[in-house]
Amino acid sequence: MDFAHKNKVYITRKIPEPGPSILKKYFQTNMNSGVDVLEREKLFENVRGVDALICMLGDKIDSQVMDAAGHNLKVISCYSVGHDHVDIYEATKRKIAVTNTPNVLANTTADLTFSLILTAARNIVNADRYVRYGNWKFGWTPDLFLGYDVHGSTLGIIGLGEIGTLVAKRARGFDMEVIYYSKTRKHKIESELDITYVSLEELLQRSDFVSIHVSLNKDSFHMIDESKIKLMKKTAFIINTSRGKVINEQHLISALKDKVIAGAALDVYEIEPISKSNPLTKMSQTILLPHIGSATFRTRSKMAEVSANNIVNFFNRKGIVHKIN
Ligand code: DGY
Repeated sequence: MDFAHKNKVYITRKIPEPGPSILKKYFQTNMNSGVDVLEREKLFENVRGVDALICMLGDKIDSQVMDAAGHNLKVISCYSVGHDHVDIYEATKRKIAVTNTPNVLANTTADLTFSLILTAARNIVNADRYVRYGNWKFGWTPDLFLGYDVHGSTLGIIGLGEIGTLVAKRARGFDMEVIYYSKTRKHKIESELDITYVSLEELLQRSDFVSIHVSLNKDSFHMIDESKIKLMKKTAFIINTSRGKVINEQHLISALKDKVIAGAALDVYEIEPISKSNPLTKMSQTILLPHIGSATFRTRSKMAEVSANNIVNFFNRKGIVHKIN
Protein backbone atom coordinates (compact mmCIF):
# COMPACT_ATOMS: atom_id res chain seq x y z
CA MET A 1 0.00 0.00 0.00
CA ASP A 2 1.39 3.37 -0.96
CA PHE A 3 0.09 5.08 2.17
CA ALA A 4 2.07 2.74 4.42
CA HIS A 5 3.31 4.44 7.57
CA LYS A 6 2.69 7.90 6.20
CA ASN A 7 -0.68 8.58 7.69
CA LYS A 8 -1.39 9.18 11.33
CA VAL A 9 -4.29 7.68 13.24
CA TYR A 10 -5.42 8.64 16.71
CA ILE A 11 -7.66 6.43 18.89
CA THR A 12 -9.38 8.42 21.62
CA ARG A 13 -9.60 5.54 24.14
CA LYS A 14 -8.26 2.04 24.47
CA ILE A 15 -9.99 -0.38 22.09
CA PRO A 16 -9.37 -4.14 22.06
CA GLU A 17 -7.42 -6.18 19.56
CA PRO A 18 -7.32 -6.71 16.67
CA GLY A 19 -8.11 -2.99 16.15
CA PRO A 20 -4.76 -1.49 17.23
CA SER A 21 -2.69 -4.19 15.46
CA ILE A 22 -4.55 -3.73 12.17
CA LEU A 23 -3.90 0.01 12.29
CA LYS A 24 -0.27 -0.28 13.39
CA LYS A 25 0.46 -2.37 10.30
CA TYR A 26 -0.32 0.58 8.04
CA PHE A 27 -0.24 3.81 10.00
CA GLN A 28 1.54 5.72 12.70
CA THR A 29 -0.97 4.87 15.40
CA ASN A 30 -1.36 6.61 18.69
CA MET A 31 -3.91 5.36 21.21
CA ASN A 32 -4.96 6.98 24.45
CA SER A 33 -4.35 4.11 26.85
CA GLY A 34 -6.93 5.39 29.34
CA VAL A 35 -10.61 4.55 29.50
CA ASP A 36 -11.90 7.99 30.48
CA VAL A 37 -13.18 10.57 28.02
CA LEU A 38 -10.33 12.99 27.27
CA GLU A 39 -10.49 16.60 28.44
CA ARG A 40 -11.27 18.83 25.45
CA GLU A 41 -7.84 20.53 25.47
CA LYS A 42 -6.07 17.18 25.61
CA LEU A 43 -8.22 15.87 22.75
CA PHE A 44 -7.39 18.97 20.65
CA GLU A 45 -3.69 18.42 21.31
CA ASN A 46 -3.77 14.70 20.53
CA VAL A 47 -5.66 14.97 17.23
CA ARG A 48 -3.37 17.63 15.80
CA GLY A 49 -2.24 16.64 12.30
CA VAL A 50 -3.96 13.24 12.19
CA ASP A 51 -5.34 11.76 8.99
CA ALA A 52 -7.86 9.55 10.71
CA LEU A 53 -9.53 9.30 14.06
CA ILE A 54 -11.25 6.48 15.92
CA CYS A 55 -13.72 7.96 18.36
CA MET A 56 -16.49 6.63 20.55
CA LEU A 57 -19.53 7.51 22.65
CA GLY A 58 -18.81 10.30 25.08
CA ASP A 59 -16.37 12.02 22.72
CA LYS A 60 -17.88 15.13 21.23
CA ILE A 61 -16.47 15.36 17.73
CA ASP A 62 -17.49 18.80 16.54
CA SER A 63 -16.03 21.62 14.44
CA GLN A 64 -13.54 22.49 17.20
CA VAL A 65 -12.06 18.99 17.15
CA MET A 66 -11.99 19.04 13.34
CA ASP A 67 -10.25 22.44 13.45
CA ALA A 68 -7.74 21.11 15.96
CA ALA A 69 -7.01 18.11 13.75
CA GLY A 70 -6.49 20.34 10.72
CA HIS A 71 -6.68 19.75 6.98
CA ASN A 72 -5.21 16.25 7.00
CA LEU A 73 -8.24 14.72 8.69
CA LYS A 74 -10.06 12.58 6.13
CA VAL A 75 -11.85 9.89 8.14
CA ILE A 76 -13.66 9.80 11.46
CA SER A 77 -14.30 6.18 12.34
CA CYS A 78 -16.86 5.62 15.08
CA TYR A 79 -16.26 2.68 17.37
CA SER A 80 -20.05 2.27 17.56
CA VAL A 81 -23.05 2.00 15.32
CA GLY A 82 -24.59 5.20 16.73
CA HIS A 83 -22.99 8.40 15.51
CA ASP A 84 -24.87 11.12 17.34
CA HIS A 85 -21.58 12.15 19.04
CA VAL A 86 -20.20 13.34 15.69
CA ASP A 87 -21.31 16.51 13.91
CA ILE A 88 -22.04 14.80 10.60
CA TYR A 89 -23.09 18.04 8.92
CA GLU A 90 -19.77 19.67 9.76
CA ALA A 91 -17.77 16.60 8.69
CA THR A 92 -19.61 16.38 5.38
CA LYS A 93 -19.05 20.08 4.72
CA ARG A 94 -15.33 19.47 5.16
CA LYS A 95 -15.43 16.30 3.00
CA ILE A 96 -14.45 14.15 5.96
CA ALA A 97 -15.86 10.62 5.77
CA VAL A 98 -17.64 9.36 8.90
CA THR A 99 -17.90 5.59 9.36
CA ASN A 100 -19.50 3.25 11.89
CA THR A 101 -19.71 -0.44 12.87
CA PRO A 102 -23.01 -1.91 11.64
CA ASN A 103 -23.80 -5.66 11.43
CA VAL A 104 -21.58 -6.74 14.31
CA LEU A 105 -23.37 -5.64 17.46
CA ALA A 106 -27.08 -6.05 16.74
CA ASN A 107 -27.45 -9.60 18.10
CA THR A 108 -25.50 -8.72 21.22
CA THR A 109 -27.66 -5.66 21.88
CA ALA A 110 -30.82 -7.65 21.16
CA ASP A 111 -29.68 -10.23 23.74
CA LEU A 112 -29.25 -7.51 26.35
CA THR A 113 -32.61 -5.98 25.48
CA PHE A 114 -34.30 -9.31 25.92
CA SER A 115 -32.58 -9.90 29.23
CA LEU A 116 -33.96 -6.53 30.39
CA ILE A 117 -37.47 -7.57 29.39
CA LEU A 118 -37.17 -10.79 31.41
CA THR A 119 -35.47 -9.07 34.34
CA ALA A 120 -38.12 -6.35 34.56
CA ALA A 121 -41.05 -8.76 34.16
CA ARG A 122 -39.86 -11.16 36.82
CA ASN A 123 -38.44 -8.71 39.36
CA ILE A 124 -35.04 -10.36 39.16
CA VAL A 125 -32.92 -7.48 40.46
CA ASN A 126 -35.12 -6.84 43.52
CA ALA A 127 -35.42 -10.55 44.26
CA ASP A 128 -31.65 -10.99 44.10
CA ARG A 129 -31.14 -8.10 46.54
CA TYR A 130 -33.78 -9.56 48.85
CA VAL A 131 -31.88 -12.83 49.11
CA ARG A 132 -28.45 -11.21 49.21
CA TYR A 133 -29.34 -8.82 52.04
CA GLY A 134 -30.77 -11.58 54.23
CA ASN A 135 -34.44 -10.62 53.91
CA TRP A 136 -35.66 -14.06 52.82
CA LYS A 137 -36.98 -15.43 56.11
CA PHE A 138 -39.97 -17.67 55.36
CA GLY A 139 -39.03 -19.97 52.49
CA TRP A 140 -41.44 -20.42 49.57
CA THR A 141 -44.30 -17.93 49.83
CA PRO A 142 -47.41 -17.73 47.61
CA ASP A 143 -47.10 -14.04 46.81
CA LEU A 144 -43.36 -13.47 46.98
CA PHE A 145 -42.14 -11.27 44.10
CA LEU A 146 -45.07 -11.86 41.79
CA GLY A 147 -44.24 -10.58 38.36
CA TYR A 148 -45.63 -10.65 34.85
CA ASP A 149 -45.49 -13.38 32.23
CA VAL A 150 -43.35 -12.65 29.22
CA HIS A 151 -44.79 -15.49 27.13
CA GLY A 152 -48.20 -14.61 25.79
CA SER A 153 -47.73 -10.88 26.39
CA THR A 154 -47.41 -8.12 23.82
CA LEU A 155 -44.11 -6.52 22.89
CA GLY A 156 -44.14 -3.15 21.13
CA ILE A 157 -40.98 -2.38 19.20
CA ILE A 158 -40.31 1.22 18.25
CA GLY A 159 -37.88 1.23 15.32
CA LEU A 160 -37.56 -1.94 13.26
CA GLY A 161 -33.92 -1.65 12.17
CA GLU A 162 -31.30 -4.33 12.68
CA ILE A 163 -31.60 -4.47 16.47
CA GLY A 164 -35.38 -4.05 16.60
CA THR A 165 -35.79 -6.93 14.14
CA LEU A 166 -33.56 -9.23 16.19
CA VAL A 167 -35.48 -8.37 19.35
CA ALA A 168 -38.70 -9.23 17.49
CA LYS A 169 -37.19 -12.58 16.49
CA ARG A 170 -36.34 -13.41 20.10
CA ALA A 171 -39.79 -12.33 21.24
CA ARG A 172 -41.50 -14.66 18.75
CA GLY A 173 -39.43 -17.50 20.22
CA PHE A 174 -40.96 -16.60 23.57
CA ASP A 175 -44.49 -16.74 22.11
CA MET A 176 -45.00 -13.02 22.47
CA GLU A 177 -47.29 -11.07 20.20
CA VAL A 178 -45.10 -8.49 18.48
CA ILE A 179 -46.32 -5.17 17.18
CA TYR A 180 -44.02 -2.49 15.85
CA TYR A 181 -43.87 1.10 14.76
CA SER A 182 -41.21 2.35 12.37
CA LYS A 183 -40.84 5.34 10.06
CA THR A 184 -41.00 2.94 7.14
CA ARG A 185 -43.13 -0.18 7.06
CA LYS A 186 -41.17 -3.44 6.61
CA HIS A 187 -43.57 -5.82 4.84
CA LYS A 188 -41.02 -8.61 4.32
CA ILE A 189 -40.01 -8.78 8.00
CA GLU A 190 -43.68 -8.56 9.00
CA SER A 191 -44.52 -11.73 7.13
CA GLU A 192 -41.27 -13.54 7.99
CA LEU A 193 -41.70 -12.98 11.73
CA ASP A 194 -45.48 -12.71 11.84
CA ILE A 195 -45.46 -9.29 13.44
CA THR A 196 -47.85 -6.37 12.96
CA TYR A 197 -47.32 -2.74 12.02
CA VAL A 198 -49.32 -0.25 14.12
CA SER A 199 -49.26 3.48 14.81
CA LEU A 200 -47.06 4.68 17.68
CA GLU A 201 -50.17 5.50 19.70
CA GLU A 202 -51.69 2.06 19.24
CA LEU A 203 -48.37 0.43 20.09
CA LEU A 204 -48.16 2.33 23.36
CA GLN A 205 -51.76 1.49 24.27
CA ARG A 206 -51.50 -2.23 23.55
CA SER A 207 -48.00 -3.22 24.67
CA ASP A 208 -47.00 -4.90 27.93
CA PHE A 209 -43.37 -4.13 27.11
CA VAL A 210 -42.29 -1.20 24.94
CA SER A 211 -38.75 -1.48 23.61
CA ILE A 212 -37.02 1.42 21.86
CA HIS A 213 -34.68 0.84 18.92
CA VAL A 214 -34.50 4.09 16.97
CA SER A 215 -31.36 6.11 16.39
CA LEU A 216 -31.17 9.57 17.91
CA ASN A 217 -31.94 12.42 15.54
CA LYS A 218 -34.13 15.51 15.56
CA ASP A 219 -37.27 13.44 14.93
CA SER A 220 -36.62 10.92 17.69
CA PHE A 221 -35.43 13.42 20.32
CA HIS A 222 -37.91 13.17 23.24
CA MET A 223 -40.20 11.08 21.04
CA ILE A 224 -41.42 9.47 24.27
CA ASP A 225 -42.72 12.23 26.51
CA GLU A 226 -45.48 12.64 29.08
CA SER A 227 -48.27 12.50 26.50
CA LYS A 228 -46.91 9.24 25.05
CA ILE A 229 -46.19 7.60 28.41
CA LYS A 230 -49.77 8.36 29.48
CA LEU A 231 -51.01 6.12 26.66
CA MET A 232 -49.24 3.08 28.13
CA LYS A 233 -50.86 0.48 30.38
CA LYS A 234 -50.35 0.88 34.13
CA THR A 235 -48.79 -2.59 34.11
CA ALA A 236 -46.42 -1.89 31.20
CA PHE A 237 -42.62 -1.56 31.21
CA ILE A 238 -40.47 0.59 29.00
CA ILE A 239 -37.08 -0.72 27.88
CA ASN A 240 -34.45 1.51 26.31
CA THR A 241 -31.17 0.26 24.87
CA SER A 242 -30.96 2.89 22.09
CA ARG A 243 -30.22 6.46 23.19
CA GLY A 244 -31.32 8.17 26.39
CA LYS A 245 -32.50 11.35 24.70
CA VAL A 246 -35.27 9.49 22.86
CA ILE A 247 -37.15 9.55 26.17
CA ASN A 248 -37.83 12.76 28.07
CA GLU A 249 -36.20 11.53 31.28
CA GLN A 250 -37.91 14.06 33.55
CA HIS A 251 -41.30 12.96 32.21
CA LEU A 252 -40.35 9.32 32.72
CA ILE A 253 -39.29 10.00 36.31
CA SER A 254 -42.63 11.70 37.06
CA ALA A 255 -44.57 8.88 35.41
CA LEU A 256 -42.72 6.27 37.46
CA LYS A 257 -43.26 8.26 40.67
CA ASP A 258 -46.99 8.54 39.90
CA LYS A 259 -47.18 4.85 38.94
CA VAL A 260 -48.45 5.71 35.45
CA ILE A 261 -46.47 2.64 34.25
CA ALA A 262 -45.03 -0.34 36.12
CA GLY A 263 -41.34 0.20 35.49
CA ALA A 264 -38.40 1.02 33.26
CA ALA A 265 -35.31 -0.95 32.31
CA LEU A 266 -32.67 1.37 30.93
CA ASP A 267 -29.21 0.98 29.47
CA VAL A 268 -28.99 4.60 28.26
CA TYR A 269 -29.70 8.04 29.73
CA GLU A 270 -30.03 11.67 28.75
CA ILE A 271 -26.69 12.35 30.44
CA GLU A 272 -24.15 9.56 30.83
CA PRO A 273 -22.98 8.55 33.31
CA ILE A 274 -26.13 9.30 35.29
CA SER A 275 -25.51 10.87 38.62
CA LYS A 276 -26.10 9.01 41.86
CA SER A 277 -28.65 11.66 42.78
CA ASN A 278 -30.79 10.98 39.69
CA PRO A 279 -34.24 9.94 41.06
CA LEU A 280 -34.15 6.89 38.77
CA THR A 281 -31.48 5.40 41.05
CA LYS A 282 -33.80 5.61 44.07
CA MET A 283 -36.67 3.63 42.55
CA SER A 284 -37.26 -0.08 42.97
CA GLN A 285 -39.22 -0.17 39.71
CA THR A 286 -36.18 0.71 37.59
CA ILE A 287 -33.34 -1.44 36.33
CA LEU A 288 -30.31 0.63 35.40
CA LEU A 289 -27.35 -0.55 33.37
CA PRO A 290 -24.24 1.46 32.40
CA HIS A 291 -24.69 1.45 28.58
CA ILE A 292 -23.46 -2.11 27.99
CA GLY A 293 -25.68 -3.13 25.05
CA SER A 294 -22.74 -4.24 22.90
CA ALA A 295 -20.42 -5.19 25.76
CA THR A 296 -19.29 -8.74 25.10
CA PHE A 297 -15.68 -9.73 24.50
CA ARG A 298 -16.42 -10.97 20.99
CA THR A 299 -18.54 -8.04 19.87
CA ARG A 300 -16.26 -5.31 21.20
CA SER A 301 -13.39 -7.01 19.44
CA LYS A 302 -15.38 -7.21 16.20
CA MET A 303 -16.23 -3.52 16.54
CA ALA A 304 -12.50 -2.77 16.90
CA GLU A 305 -11.78 -4.79 13.76
CA VAL A 306 -14.50 -3.08 11.72
CA SER A 307 -13.61 0.43 12.86
CA ALA A 308 -9.92 -0.16 12.06
CA ASN A 309 -10.69 -1.74 8.68
CA ASN A 310 -12.95 1.18 7.81
CA ILE A 311 -9.84 3.37 7.93
CA VAL A 312 -7.54 0.93 6.14
CA ASN A 313 -10.08 0.33 3.37
CA PHE A 314 -10.80 4.03 3.02
CA PHE A 315 -7.17 4.88 2.29
CA ASN A 316 -6.61 1.71 0.30
CA ARG A 317 -9.77 2.33 -1.77
CA LYS A 318 -10.53 -1.39 -1.48
CA GLY A 319 -12.95 -3.41 0.63
CA ILE A 320 -15.87 -2.24 2.69
CA VAL A 321 -16.03 1.19 4.27
CA HIS A 322 -19.16 1.63 6.36
CA LYS A 323 -19.69 5.26 5.46
CA ILE A 324 -22.51 7.26 7.01
CA ASN A 325 -22.18 10.51 5.03
C1 DGY B 1 -23.53 1.89 19.65
O1 DGY B 1 -22.75 1.21 18.97
O2 DGY B 1 -24.09 2.88 19.18
C2 DGY B 1 -23.79 1.46 21.05
O3 DGY B 1 -24.61 2.32 21.74
C3 DGY B 1 -22.50 1.24 21.78
O4 DGY B 1 -21.97 0.08 21.32
